[in-house]
Amino acid sequence: MQRFVPVLRDDNVDLELISLLNTLMAACKEISFRLHQGELAGILGSTLDENIQGETQKKLDVISNQLIKDILLESGLVRAIASEEEDTIVAGSPSGRYLVCFDPLDGSSNIDINSLVGTIFSIMEVPEGMEGATEEMFLQPGTAQVSAGYVLYGPSTQLALTTGDGVKLFTLDNTIGEFLLTNEKMTISEDTQEFAINMSNQRFWEPAMQQYIADLLAGTTGKRDKNFNMRWIAAMVGDVHRVLSRGGIFTYPTDNKNPAKPHKLRLMYEANPMGFLVEQAGGIASTGYERIMEIEPSEIHQRVAVVLGSKNEVNTCLEYHK
Ligand code: F6P
Repeated sequence: MQRFVPVLRDDNVDLELISLLNTLMAACKEISFRLHQGELAGILGSTLDENIQGETQKKLDVISNQLIKDILLESGLVRAIASEEEDTIVAGSPSGRYLVCFDPLDGSSNIDINSLVGTIFSIMEVPEGMEGATEEMFLQPGTAQVSAGYVLYGPSTQLALTTGDGVKLFTLDNTIGEFLLTNEKMTISEDTQEFAINMSNQRFWEPAMQQYIADLLAGTTGKRDKNFNMRWIAAMVGDVHRVLSRGGIFTYPTDNKNPAKPHKLRLMYEANPMGFLVEQAGGIASTGYERIMEIEPSEIHQRVAVVLGSKNEVNTCLEYHK
């Protein structure tokens, strides 16, 4: 049953962090409102620009980035931000204690087809003794995150949030403009018969992933001796939400389609926050070879391979990579 427990109130979480989360949610509510207005708000379609990743920017990518960026930088709580839509970090308040990495609108190719998109965020503290605002202060492993989450803009808008003590799910009540607590503890089942991968890249994967997926597809006629179903939303936020809701394995593995770009997903504002959520819900998040949250980042837009979800299934996949 839904309960009015605003993100605002949690006795175990630092008040400044709660204030930061509520500030961030104010921008997400605005994004949610504009998304639901859709075509009527005149915000669909592309801009003429590309982001640092070389992807065409959608109008809503730009609007969402601006909304989140402005509200965070003006909050007084944030030393600097790193966004998918910004080439470099952007400085905020010199006394701000927090660093926020975010993907303002993940899965933006879904915008024009009125399908799932989301905002992903990761929050760390400025390392002790570091002054000013530098990229170096962001280069901390995912284990340094103090909070992470995503807002899924779907038929309803939901916030999945961790502050290191499990994962809570909130649903936006549009009648009062507040996120209400609808699941106190999201837990990923240990086993699953559902996988998510972009099958069109099959011939470009490493042999380990080729073999693992081939065995899933063989179902009861192969060594797994059970049938698997496949789902692919093409927005990580939607696929991870499904995994958190009913289990599953999601992977965007290494591929050699473009040897200069063997990985698709970004470490700091996609893999790390999702890894934190998945681990807090009892699952595993790996690159296939190492725990995502232990990677020492070398730059803010770094990319990684991702294999995450139900514990036993991810472990089975990792066996193929040994
Ligand atoms: O951020 C990249 C992203 O939009 C993810 O959300 C999603 O999993 C992936 O790209 C889908 O990309 P593609 O359709 O190219 O496989």
